[in-house]
Amino acid sequence: MFSAPNATPATAAHVSVLLDEVLAGLNLRAGGRYLDGTLGLGGHSAALMERTQGRAWLCGIDRDPQALERAAARLAPYAGHCRLFASEYASFPAALDALGWEHIDGALLDLGVSSLQLDVTERGFSLRGNAPLDMRMDMGTLSRKDREPWLESAWTVVNHADIHDLRRIIEMYGEDPQAKRIARAIVEARQSTPIETTGQLADIVSQAYPAHWRAEARSHPATRTFQAIRMAVNDELGQLERFLDAILPRLAVGGRLAVISFHSLEDRLVKQRFRTWSTDCLCPPHLPRCMCGHHAEARLITKKPVVPGREELRDNPRSGSARLRIVEKLPPYKELS
Ligand SMILES: C[S@@+](CC[C@H](N)C(=O)[O-])C[C@H]1O[C@@H](n2cnc3c(N)ncnc32)[C@H](O)[C@@H]1O
Repeated sequence: MFSAPNATPATAAHVSVLLDEVLAGLNLRAGGRYLDGTLGLGGHSAALMERTQGRAWLCGIDRDPQALERAAARLAPYAGHCRLFASEYASFPAALDALGWEHIDGALLDLGVSSLQLDVTERGFSLRGNAPLDMRMDMGTLSRKDREPWLESAWTVVNHADIHDLRRIIEMYGEDPQAKRIARAIVEARQSTPIETTGQLADIVSQAYPAHWRAEARSHPATRTFQAIRMAVNDELGQLERFLDAILPRLAVGGRLAVISFHSLEDRLVKQRFRTWSTDCLCPPHLPRCMCGHHAEARLITKKPVVPGREELRDNPRSGSARLRIVEKLPPYKELS
């Protein structure tokens, strides 16, 4: 049985999700070129290198400078075969171009936050502790000139978003039925002085909940609001959409893309895109013959999302909402003559 190198002291906190399933699904081969767009602490990538006896080539991307440093240490035994980039994964074509890689044999996205981000209280991702409102995965190291100023950090969202945007973010990304009450409570609270810390925000959201909801909640009432603000600050769905727009032309024929998502909106985006890629005709079903001329560009390797088994759930409760989907690029369509 393959055992993942998850136990080095620097990386003990993050357990890579669906590791065996990802490694098997990517159809790895020695000499193959692979992209890990969410390197994190390098768990999946180190296992990929180990499985290919260090003979694969890796382009690793993360926008979190702390994660990148840890991943570099973990990948040190394979340094000659790994190039790491401090960047957003939506910009992956620039990284591949820098390496002179026209095509890759596989790509992985393991979305969301790492344990490192959650566990370092000062970064403001977590409800535990009391830290400045931040939540920027890139810690302010990357340019955000195309973003609206109020989306700069958790602080700017909480203190400057208008009530409609706040409600929309909490409703859409947090899927919180109390979004309207929470948005109103935040706007009222910030009228006297700005909301500065995660603790203050958690209390405001908690108090906005009706008492019986609060009493019956299985997790902290602010969990969904924190997730929503994090997704907005880091443009998580926008990144995924732009990545999916660009990845297919950069996959070699037979190359595979694996995506692990933790949020229903992410999983829906991936599922829909994979379905479009793997369908021959996209015409409405009532048309008697195909008018669109679309041909499948990929085939589904996972017909249904792969989810963690009982053992993984027991060992790593954070894997609970993970969904893995994989596609493989097909050769270009040829008309029969
Ligand atoms: C769940 S962790 C990945 C863990 C990794 N697979 C492992 O086994 O150690 C997700 C990582 O993706 C990074 N990330 C999320 N969105 C990103 C984006 N748009 N561009 C670059 N990195 C991103 C986060 O900073 C975080 O380090």
